[in-house]
Amino acid sequence: MDNISVSTTDVRIERHANQLSRQLKLLREKLFPPLSQKTLRTFSSGEAAQMIGVSDGYLRQLSLDGKGPQPELSQNGRRSYTLGQINELRHYMAKLKPKDALSYLPWRRPGEKLQTVAVTNFKGGSAKTTTTLYLAQYLALAGYRVLAIDLDPQASLSSMLGVQPEFDLSDGDTLYGAIRYDADRRPLKDIVRKTYFDGLDLVPGNLELMEFEHETPRALSDRQRPGELFFRRVGMAIAEVEADYDVVVIDCPPQLGYLTLGAVCAATSLLITIHPQMVDVASMSQFLLMTSDLLSVVRKAGGDLQHDFIKYVVTRHEPFDAPQSQIVALLRSLFSDDVLTATILKSTAIADAGLTKQTLFEIEKGQVRRSTYDRALESVNAANGEVLAGIHKAWGRT
Ligand SMILES: Nc1ncnc2c1ncn2[C@@H]1O[C@H](COP(=O)(O)OP(=O)(O)O)[C@@H](O)[C@H]1O
Ligand SMILES: [Mg+2]
Repeated sequence: MDNISVSTTDVRIERHANQLSRQLKLLREKLFPPLSQKTLRTFSSGEAAQMIGVSDGYLRQLSLDGKGPQPELSQNGRRSYTLGQINELRHYMAKLKPKDALSYLPWRRPGEKLQTVAVTNFKGGSAKTTTTLYLAQYLALAGYRVLAIDLDPQASLSSMLGVQPEFDLSDGDTLYGAIRYDADRRPLKDIVRKTYFDGLDLVPGNLELMEFEHETPRALSDRQRPGELFFRRVGMAIAEVEADYDVVVIDCPPQLGYLTLGAVCAATSLLITIHPQMVDVASMSQFLLMTSDLLSVVRKAGGDLQHDFIKYVVTRHEPFDAPQSQIVALLRSLFSDDVLTATILKSTAIADAGLTKQTLFEIEKGQVRRSTYDRALESVNAANGEVLAGIHKAWGRT
């Protein structure tokens, strides 16, 4: 009788899944032993001084005077700081010079509301994850308290931030754990995890996020629970940890499902990534209409659709490609200020760094050609700087 059950397809596939999972686990332990966790490089005293907003000489004097965290000294006497130490020094400086505190420690002040940026697009491969990751790291390096939420079941943001979605997560360890409809719901505080990047926390993703897409239609038709509005759930979960962060950045899945709608309603601003190619842009008007339709339904049901800013970001831009230039020009003439002035350049430096799950902020100098590195990083910083300016404007800072 056992034979019958063992040969049914569901049982067989389950056995395959378990075998595969066991084997992958073994393989991973061999490739990445548990102790080889991701770490962030240290920063030279010059870099640290610039990040904090003091001179290198001043930083040197502090360390000579034994004030603040002590940098690591290399054999040739070079000082280097961890991001954690840089953040300690930011606190130190803010305390020392209360009048200029904001320039050293840019955390939001009373009255400045949490900023939630949803990075979204209907297309896979439009650099959503890359854009989310660079923005999150940029803000963390600048001293903000950042929460990155991976809403894509494919979870590439999580793995870039050092969490292996197949191995490191149990049930309820994604945002789904905090927005599910049943009694297993957990507080988001218990799900958030620190990353190897000081000041940057993560709500990881994996396939379980799909449950929300399946459960929501059921919840919508359940007359017993009419108040459980699906589009409020992401925002309600974020509100639970609001006090701990300045900016939340959400990597949305590449479709207009319930998760994306929840993220858009939770967001205070939207970043829509655009790869400037005819095939991608051709589907855009369709996408925008669909989005607008869905959002108007949500708005009429009581969803919050006020955003401080909505920006299109041109990504993987090749400025010397004539067709691309035409498309970028078209977007600018149509959407004018809604398109970020800076574009994120297509760069082998970004792609190559990505191969080892790193960003340009993370790799050591000399790992890629200097000129390529500088050009790419400049474009990333310029785009992120515009987003940060939008955040500051929303906070009423000048
Ligand atoms: N500016 C860029 N230059 C070069 N490669 C890029 C750039 N941005 C993204 N990529 C690469 O393109 C691929 C898709 O990017 P990704 O951010 O994962 O897109 P999405 O999240 O929209 O699917 C990745 O392999 C990534 O490394
Ligand atoms: Mg992605």
